[in-house]
Amino acid sequence: MKAWDVIVIGAGAAGLMCAAEAGKRGRRVLLLDHGKRIGRKILMSGGGRCNFTNYFIEPGAFLCENPHFVKSALARYTQWDFIALVEKHGIAYHEKTLGQLFCDDSAQNIVDMLVKECDDAGVTIRLRSNIDSVASLGEGFAVTTDNDQYSCQSLVVASGGLSMPKIGASAFGYKLAEQFGLKVLPTRAGLVPFTLQPEDKATLEPLAGVSLPVVAESEDGTRFAENLLFTHRGVSGPSVLQISSYWQAGEQVHFELLPAGRLTQGIADSPNQELKTWLSRHLPKRLVDTLLEREKITNKPLKQYVPKEVAAIEQLLAAWPLKPGGTEGYRTAEVTLGGVDTDELSSKTMMAKKVPNLYFIGEVVDVSGWLGGYNFQWAWSAGWCAGQVV
Ligand code: FDA
Repeated sequence: MKAWDVIVIGAGAAGLMCAAEAGKRGRRVLLLDHGKRIGRKILMSGGGRCNFTNYFIEPGAFLCENPHFVKSALARYTQWDFIALVEKHGIAYHEKTLGQLFCDDSAQNIVDMLVKECDDAGVTIRLRSNIDSVASLGEGFAVTTDNDQYSCQSLVVASGGLSMPKIGASAFGYKLAEQFGLKVLPTRAGLVPFTLQPEDKATLEPLAGVSLPVVAESEDGTRFAENLLFTHRGVSGPSVLQISSYWQAGEQVHFELLPAGRLTQGIADSPNQELKTWLSRHLPKRLVDTLLEREKITNKPLKQYVPKEVAAIEQLLAAWPLKPGGTEGYRTAEVTLGGVDTDELSSKTMMAKKVPNLYFIGEVVDVSGWLGGYNFQWAWSAGWCAGQVV
């Protein structure tokens, strides 16, 4: 059995960061992954340009049963630390919107950077390694793969969540946590498009391609002001992906298409204009046609609407209700909500409280961020913290 100080399972964002940091401390580190390539999710992220962090990282942008859990790691390894690393490697980047930082060139830059950090720190990376079993050795762990057997003092699980099974996502980390008696919270797809109920699909499918700025609101009152996109399968766009993480099956989502009071103002400003013409000045015309037809609203000059009708239309525009049929699921989800219960882990080191020297980092943990670079920052921060102590 070959002996290592540290074995990290999962050569994704969190695993690469942790391995490099542990290697820098002189630890002999083996990084294992069952895939053929390093950092596959990084490569496909941000439309191939990797939205690697966000200027506005703050604990409130993360979903977790214990909202305080993320504070320590995010404060110890911040977005500014990761930006400094990116700059040290001469990678050009830009802010796209809302503090979201992307590579100018390609996500490959970020993978190359992390691989260089690992190489410089003497980390050994073995791909195509399927883990057959993990066993406790009292002081450390034995890891058996389909082609070798290893022992290690510290074991780090960085195998990610369930989203995108096509590129190697697996339930490995959850099963391992359970094997060691740790609680795993139920998982579901997050940052994911909604599908529609059959009756909505019939009326809304022709809107595929229509996009507009909205404020999406979930039943718990969480709101995101971003774009809504109608697709052939349902609704998507950043506002939908964001709100999907706060949505539970059976609930409604409301979209503010126009702020309350806008129609009343329109009636005062342009009383002779027809509703359809007025609405088409503010919203995509195809959406206006569909809305009036769906809601059976008669088109007439604005001044002819009685107060009750005005109130109903104002309400519809300020909070258009939609009850999704479901989500597109892990096939297209950017993250997995739920996972290893943070009550089981030290928020400073990510070590399991009940199992010395066993660590969980990144998406496998019950921590999910907003869209916009938050999830990678969690992976970097958690990976860095574990890397200081493993
Ligand atoms: P990650 O999934 O990166 O890595 C896990 C690794 O473990 C993989 O290499 C996998 O092969 C390996 N593994 C799994 N099971 C294994 C097993 N049984 N044995 C061995 N190895 C195993 N976030 C963000 O902040 N900005 C963005 O732009 C995007 N964009 C984006 C696009 C798309 C399409 C997706 C799906 C996701 C994003 N994300 C994102 C989310 C982000 O990719 C995600 O949060 C991080 O990659 C999580 O990092 P981890 O290291 O925890 O898991």
